[in-house]
Amino acid sequence: MHFLRLLLVVSSVLLSVSTRVQSRPLEDRNKDTSRRESSTAINATVLILGGGVAGVIAARTFYEQGIDFLIIEARGELGGRMMSHSFSGITVEAGANWVQGTQTGGGLANPIYELAKKHGLKTQSSDFTGSITTYDVEGQTDFINVVNDARDNYTVLTVTAGARVSPSLADITSRAGYSLNDAKPLDAHAKAAEYLHFDWEYGQTPEETSWIASSWANNFTFESEEGGFSEENLMSLDDRGFKYLIQSEAEEFVEPQQVIYNSVIKEIAHGESGVNVTLENGEFFAADYALCTFSLGVLQNDDVTFTPALPHYKQEAIQSMTMGTYTKIFLRFSRKFWFDTEMGLYADPERGRYPVWQSLDHPNFMPGSGIIFVTVTGDYSIRVESLPESQIKKEVIEVLQRMFPEEDIPEPVDFWFHRWHSDKLYRGSYSNWPANFLQPHHDNLRANVGRLYFAGEATSMKYFGFLHGAYFEGLHMAEEMAGCITDGRCLGLTHFEDVKNAVPYRV
Ligand SMILES: Cc1cc2nc3c(=O)[nH]c(=O)nc-3n(C[C@H](O)[C@H](O)[C@H](O)COP(=O)(O)OP(=O)(O)OC[C@H]3O[C@@H](n4cnc5c(N)ncnc54)[C@H](O)[C@@H]3O)c2cc1C
Ligand SMILES: *[C@@H]1O[C@H](CO)[C@@H](O)[C@H](O)[C@H]1NC(C)=O
Ligand SMILES: *[C@@H]1O[C@H](CO)[C@@H](O)[C@H](O)[C@H]1NC(C)=O
Ligand SMILES: *[C@@H]1O[C@H](CO)[C@@H](O)[C@H](O)[C@H]1NC(C)=O
Ligand SMILES: *[C@@H]1O[C@H](CO)[C@@H](O)[C@H](O)[C@H]1NC(C)=O
Repeated sequence: MHFLRLLLVVSSVLLSVSTRVQSRPLEDRNKDTSRRESSTAINATVLILGGGVAGVIAARTFYEQGIDFLIIEARGELGGRMMSHSFSGITVEAGANWVQGTQTGGGLANPIYELAKKHGLKTQSSDFTGSITTYDVEGQTDFINVVNDARDNYTVLTVTAGARVSPSLADITSRAGYSLNDAKPLDAHAKAAEYLHFDWEYGQTPEETSWIASSWANNFTFESEEGGFSEENLMSLDDRGFKYLIQSEAEEFVEPQQVIYNSVIKEIAHGESGVNVTLENGEFFAADYALCTFSLGVLQNDDVTFTPALPHYKQEAIQSMTMGTYTKIFLRFSRKFWFDTEMGLYADPERGRYPVWQSLDHPNFMPGSGIIFVTVTGDYSIRVESLPESQIKKEVIEVLQRMFPEEDIPEPVDFWFHRWHSDKLYRGSYSNWPANFLQPHHDNLRANVGRLYFAGEATSMKYFGFLHGAYFEGLHMAEEMAGCITDGRCLGLTHFEDVKNAVPYRV
């Protein structure tokens, strides 16, 4: 009787210990080493899956700590979503284009800004709020006061979000946040103005976006008083592409034979003894550990198979964060016929229809280039991707004709956009945090599953969506893995088996 009681107590203590230590410790170092000595077939201690910013920055830590690694990358170059395109011979950026937030005084610097300086990248500051001409279906129409109001309303949104954080009020959508602050855009001008300050940054609508987390992302990047870098947006104008900064950085610590290019991974098998990776062409790689840096969009779809399937908490986290799409549609004309400001804002009766126009044919950027580009986001991007290029071109020209009724809009000499949502290596542009995505969900998104680790912009709580988010996550995750590999500190990252309501439902 007493013995049984004791047994029960002991087993329940053991049970609570095993649920509290949420990630199972991996094997200790000695066991690991002896296994490695007896195993003949590993290609590297760590496989880095994907050679974007997160993968390259992780490689630097492995190099510094003497841990051998291989990067496996689907494309023929490093950089990932830092993807340039030769648009009638001129380098434009299909993906990331700006260092967002640089540095204020001697404060915290954006590491991407530091890389841009270190590698001599050609850049120029963009003015996202002070150099705008406004248009609607009637042509040029001055509603700049509405644009400025929308900017102030966005600021109010981020400030009032802060008032929810310390009492731990539930996160709700940015739409609800706007409305609670009496910002309820109803006409086309107000909607376009709101779009410029919101969707154009997050790649999704206020309805689709958290109020609190989106405000963090803004503050930690742009608000120096909140630990952010600065309000500046520094545009890459480098002929070698924005990607040059990460490719050039990689040359310092990645040997050519350490990158396996043009290799699309099809399957990732993970277990207690290591991680195996199989390519589409059947090639096979084995390692003790792997760091998966694929975009959230890739993880959400079935482009890569995990064996065994990822645990339910991991899958729930992956499917609950969202992947936004941000599409830049480039046009080149034989002559410039548009605004002299950096940007044009077009208010269509349909919110999000070809709204934000940016001129590269501007004294600060590429004067004489004849290039202008328009950005669409979210569902409108998905719509655009589902249609043939000829139709999008026609629609875009029709919008220009409305913006400039006096002009006879000529046929562009070149037209191009990248289909990020359909691209199986990305499945969207960058992640966005929805209102029902809770902090434990995010911990689960970041958590390792045994020897398989994850890093990328989406795993960054402070900077999801940004290049610097990918940078910091590559760095932190490699440090975590290095601690395990070299010192046997293999506790792993925290995860929650179940994400629960703070207060149970009463139905
Ligand atoms: C249109 C657009 C505009 C953006 N604008 C900005 C901006 O101005 N400023 C900013 O800070 N951020 C911007 N971003 C976001 C920024 O580009 C990303 O946050 C960052 O590049 C992500 O880096 P990553 O290493 O996490 O992922 P990725 O760059 O996606 O790296 C993952 C790598 O994995 C590879 N891969 C995928 N699937 C496989 C597979 N099956 N097998 C092998 N390899 C595979 C990919 O080719 C890729 O190289 C933008 C993104 C886009 C798309
Ligand atoms: C990886 O190891 C396998 C054997 O396990 C071998 O067939 C393959 O060629 C190796 N790949 C590289 C790039 O060394
Ligand atoms: C964002 O920054 C503003 C301005 O400093 C601050 O008042 C607010 O609390 C911050 N918001 C969040 C969510 O931290
Ligand atoms: C900004 O918010 C105010 C209320 O504070 C509202 O009257 C105004 O219409 C809003 N403007 C826009 C463009 O949302
Ligand atoms: C990896 O491949 C090796 C050799 O085929 C095998 O022994 C091992 O069990 C595999 N590991 C996993 C996690 O699938």
